[in-house]
Amino acid sequence: MTNFNDKVVLITGAGNGIGRATALAFAQQGASVVVADINQSDGEETAAKITQAGGIATFMLCDVTKDRDVQTLVDGTLETYGKLDIAFNNAGIEIEQSKLADGEEAIYDKIMDVNVKGVWRCMKYQIPAMLQQPTSAIVNTASIAALGAAPKMSIYSASKHAVIGLTKSAAIEYAKKGLRVNAVCPAVIDTDMFKRATQSDPQKEQYANSLHPVGRIGQPEEVAAAVLYLCSDLASFTTGVALPVDGGSTAI
Ligand SMILES: NC(=O)c1ccc[n+]([C@@H]2O[C@H](COP(=O)([O-])OP(=O)(O)OC[C@H]3O[C@@H](n4cnc5c(N)ncnc54)[C@H](O)[C@@H]3O)[C@@H](O)[C@H]2O)c1
Repeated sequence: MTNFNDKVVLITGAGNGIGRATALAFAQQGASVVVADINQSDGEETAAKITQAGGIATFMLCDVTKDRDVQTLVDGTLETYGKLDIAFNNAGIEIEQSKLADGEEAIYDKIMDVNVKGVWRCMKYQIPAMLQQPTSAIVNTASIAALGAAPKMSIYSASKHAVIGLTKSAAIEYAKKGLRVNAVCPAVIDTDMFKRATQSDPQKEQYANSLHPVGRIGQPEEVAAAVLYLCSDLASFTTGVALPVDGGSTAI
């Protein structure tokens, strides 16, 4: 039931971190994967890793803040593979930590443009294509910052709360059409995003480990496993959920 043979999967932000790990995992389970990213060399590297391992993948350059890019991405997926079954809307950016009153409007707009409007825009163009299939599934990447306060990350936290709002509303709108829409809410995951946040201070890494009851941060493959579950037939009765993948963080 977690076999994705004959499924076409589109992943944004697939050039690195969680998106790349998920692209590799879907390909290992037989899916044809569209690797979308704003970074050409990283995206091409993900696609090459898949094809070198005997899988099926195509890189498509896409900035999720550009309407035309996203439209072209979905059209290109249909032209290349004939359909779209699964989408993982994962492209996202972080912010430098600062208290709310020290924030800047340009940063607010940038975060919202990528993290919220990017997910909205992707779903807007994906959904009509996905409704052509008897069943389909979308997973959006939120964060545990979507489930509660994230001090000094208020804009990021607000953007990820909004991703859950989009996810739940779309889930209800299309529940009777065979389309399931869910979100994953990772805690701290060992990706370049995490490394950028901790490289200036090694103590931050230890602190990050200590935040999780399991005593460590997560690996991108552990988020990928949750995404594959939510997109599989094992989750056929699950829609509109925001699933923490967090080493127990939100249980405290
Ligand atoms: N790493 C964490 O601790 C963590 C925790 C919770 C949630 N998240 C979320 O997970 C997602 C992936 O994060 P990651 O840690 O893998 O980050 P990452 O920085 O390692 O990878 C993000 C990828 O998204 C791409 N990207 C950025 N802006 C884009 C745009 N406008 N259009 C298309 N692609 C774009 C980047 O080029 C990169 O390849 C993000 O939405 C992030 O907010 C990460």
